[in-house]
This record gives sequence, C-alpha cells and structure tokens, in this order.
Amino acid sequence: MRRPIIAGNWKMYKTIPEALEFVRIFKPLVVASTHCEIVIAPVFTAIKSMADRLEGSNVEVAAQDSAADPGPGAFTGEVSASMIRDAGGRWVIIGHSERRQYYGETDESVGAKIRSAVGAGLLPIVCVGERLEDRDATRAETVVEAQLTAGMRNLTVTEASRIIVAYEPVWAIGTGRTATPETAQEMHAFIRSRLGAMFGDRIAQTTRILYGGSVKPDNIVALMDQVDIDGGLVGGASLEADSFARIINYKERG
Ligand code: PGA
Repeated sequence: MRRPIIAGNWKMYKTIPEALEFVRIFKPLVVASTHCEIVIAPVFTAIKSMADRLEGSNVEVAAQDSAADPGPGAFTGEVSASMIRDAGGRWVIIGHSERRQYYGETDESVGAKIRSAVGAGLLPIVCVGERLEDRDATRAETVVEAQLTAGMRNLTVTEASRIIVAYEPVWAIGTGRTATPETAQEMHAFIRSRLGAMFGDRIAQTTRILYGGSVKPDNIVALMDQVDIDGGLVGGASLEADSFARIINYKERG
C-alpha cells in the first residue's frame, strides 16, 4: 500500500546541458518502471528545463530546498515553494544534513519550510539522521526523534499525510559506508512508531520512509527487502543514468 519512491539528489552537480543529456539517456531506461515513483532533484537553475523535458513521462522533478517564507517578499537569494511549482517541480528535499551542517538549517527552519512547501502543494522529502558521534553514544534515536518532532509538530494530520521522510545517517552519506539493512530497518520502524504517536496509526502506516546514504545498485535490493523501507534517496549513484536506472529497476534483480 506504500508505493516506493526512488529519488536522486544531484546536489551541486550538472549544468543544464548536462542535466538534459542525462534525461535523454535515462528516460528510455526507466520507461517501463511502474513499480515506483521516480524523482530527480537537480540544482534550481535546471528545474524548469528538466521539468519541460520530462513532461508526460514517469519521472518527476524536485528542488533541493525551498524558502521558509511562502513569499513573495524581500528575501534575497531565496526561492519559494510556489516558485518551484511554477518551474515544474512537484517535490522538495527539506532539511538535508548538508544544509543543516553548512548552512545553519535548524529543526525550526525545517518546520517552517515544510509548512510552506505543503501550503504550495509540493511534496516534501524531510531528511533526518544522526551523526556518527550520536550513534556511538547510543543516542541515534533521541536525535532522530528530536528532528522529527521539531520539524513536524506544527503540522495538521492532513499536512502530515503529504510528507515523505528520508532517514539519512550522516555517517553513511557520500562515504560508501551504507547502514546495514537491519540497522536501517530498526530506525525506520522507530520513525514509523513516532509518526504514529504524533499523527495516529493511519499516517504511520501510509507515510513513505526512504533510506539514504551510499545507496548503490548492489545494496538496494537488500534495503528494499526491509518492511519499513519504502524507497531510497540517492546521491552519488544518481548522477550517472545507468547506475540510477539499475537502482530504480531493483525489482528485476531482486
Ligand atoms: P550518497 O548521498 O548517496 O552520495 O551517500 C545521499 C544524500 O546525500 O542524499
């Protein structure tokens, strides 16, 4: 009942021509992949060109961030959620650990961004995840719970029903060190139970929880085998059409 989502996070990679070249090669590789939703998050400047090129296909476009304020307004450098929709984006990644780490994103700003995104009709992919020192100190669940609560506590049940959660342990991002399927499953089950405590059983059972952190073609099958893992948020391995398509088409190899 939870349709998987495989989303690519391109971070600060790919110019517009590079993004369109990717689309040209990628589209035919996933044209028959109907078992999951397919999402790509390019840089802001490539959203419109990519969305135009992907129109009518089974691949949708996301932004990697959006403004906390719904705007319009005097917020230099910001891009609002409704502007992302205007450019053809349907999804947005919010609270990625790189934004928390390098750009001062807080649980509070994440909360405001989620509300604006939902208000504009975007589907937010909300990232949570502990650092290595948190896990070593056995406070991974405490950290993730605090991020979830602070980010989502002001949402109504209807708003919460639009949210996708991505569990991305910081120590697994870009390191080649994936969480084992069992470690990931444990945290996903915990996140689902917290969603239940906040919003009730229906939200707990229907919310898609993605795993992110060094997802590759050779580990996606074991991750997707876990009952509470509903997809992946893929960084490095989404930059190349063939490897991203192999991740999406995990079912054929499972
Ligand atoms: P990675 O990145 O797949 O390169 O580890 C994941 C992410 O940052 O979303």
